[in-house]
Amino acid sequence: MKKNPSRNENFKKETSSLLKKINKSIDIDQRLFNEDIACSIAHCYMMIKSKIISSSDGKTIIKGLQQIHKEIKNNKFKFEDSLEDIHMNIESLLFKKIGPIAGKLHTARSRNDQVATDLKLWIRKKISIIDNEIKNFQKTFITAAKKNVHTLMPGYTHLQIAQTVSFAHHMMAYVEMFGRDRSRLNNCLTRLNENPLGSGALAGTSFNINRKITTKLLLFKNATANSIDSVSDRDFVIEFIFCLSLISVHLSRLAEEIVLWSSQHFQFIKLPDELSTGSSILPQKKNPDGAELVRGKSSLIISNLSAILNIIKSMPLSYNKDMQEDKKLVFDSFDNVLISLKVLQETIKKMKINKIKMLNAINNSNATAIDLSDALVKELNYSFRDSYALTGKIVNYANKKNKFLHELSIRELKKFDNNLSKQIISILSPQNSIKNKKSVGGTAPENVKQAIKQAVSKYL
Ligand code: ARG
Repeated sequence: MKKNPSRNENFKKETSSLLKKINKSIDIDQRLFNEDIACSIAHCYMMIKSKIISSSDGKTIIKGLQQIHKEIKNNKFKFEDSLEDIHMNIESLLFKKIGPIAGKLHTARSRNDQVATDLKLWIRKKISIIDNEIKNFQKTFITAAKKNVHTLMPGYTHLQIAQTVSFAHHMMAYVEMFGRDRSRLNNCLTRLNENPLGSGALAGTSFNINRKITTKLLLFKNATANSIDSVSDRDFVIEFIFCLSLISVHLSRLAEEIVLWSSQHFQFIKLPDELSTGSSILPQKKNPDGAELVRGKSSLIISNLSAILNIIKSMPLSYNKDMQEDKKLVFDSFDNVLISLKVLQETIKKMKINKIKMLNAINNSNATAIDLSDALVKELNYSFRDSYALTGKIVNYANKKNKFLHELSIRELKKFDNNLSKQIISILSPQNSIKNKKSVGGTAPENVKQAIKQAVSKYL
């Protein structure tokens, strides 16, 4: 068993196996090895430049670290539980590689500023991965939208058919939602992009370090201003998990729509076989498990957000070991969001839209009631409340006759107001219904085409 570098003569007894078990995080934080080594190399380079260590010792350390990086990458290194975490594992390996000079690397730093820096670097990289994945997803929605500017679908409120929209318009709603997610992630990135390295355990250091050098090397915007805050701060973790939670909430809403749309009751879309699962007992079934799992995973991510908020809320400044639990939550949220994005993107790409079923759903509803009310206002100078009341009466009449609004003849309509002209019949068609929704952000095909153009230049 390797000797833990943080055990010294001050300890008379070995750590108990129980404490070792609860204390170790290497099984989780080994995912930070890239960042930990980058952070150590930057620190070492800064110490050479600041004459805290000699150039030859520094170069030996950097070379050793680069070799270790290669070995870990090639799976040649077995991490040791007894060494607690990624920082100690790498330090111990450095000792093995270059001997006692390795002991100079931890000058003027602590694991506290080290772990905060590592995790910031890791999250920064993942923000760009998620951002890119969402961008591709927006592209997928836009491709679907371009093909369906004239495809009619029922628009819902309260899951009741409310009005007619185009399928493209519905797709573009997701482009906007995910656009906000991207801007939130970038916002999180701006605040995160300050370098905690050089804060030491919590008080800073008596060595003449130059934080500008590590800041530049690690591509941070500037060095953090307060050493206590630097090692206490996990806002960037919370913000990142919040961003992921909201992305997952958006994904879950889409997943729910996919589940509904692919059900026998809607049949608006057909999922491809490669994205459906079968039942072990019911041979006729094709289930939308992918979408359902995305919906399920979003609950886990939201729980991670609640967990990290709870971990931090009752913690005195500065570093406390509870913070070690943060990484599991970050990694798990990231992994789940990434796979969810990929699964749903593939689903949107490969699903087949059933235009006839969507049109049938519209025709089996009074989705154009609002168009009738609007026409009464525009053509016959009704106040909206009066036209609303009259339309209600007409809907009631149609219900009694077992018809829908658009199935009423002009003769029947004229019974309610003799001034109604024949034109009203065409106004009640779903095609005209969407054509007339020309207000900014509305579902008229011309608007949606414009919205697609704008989205392409804004997001892609
Ligand atoms: N593994 C620890 C963590 O993730 C690193 C920091 C340990 N610091 C300490 N003072 N014990 O939080």
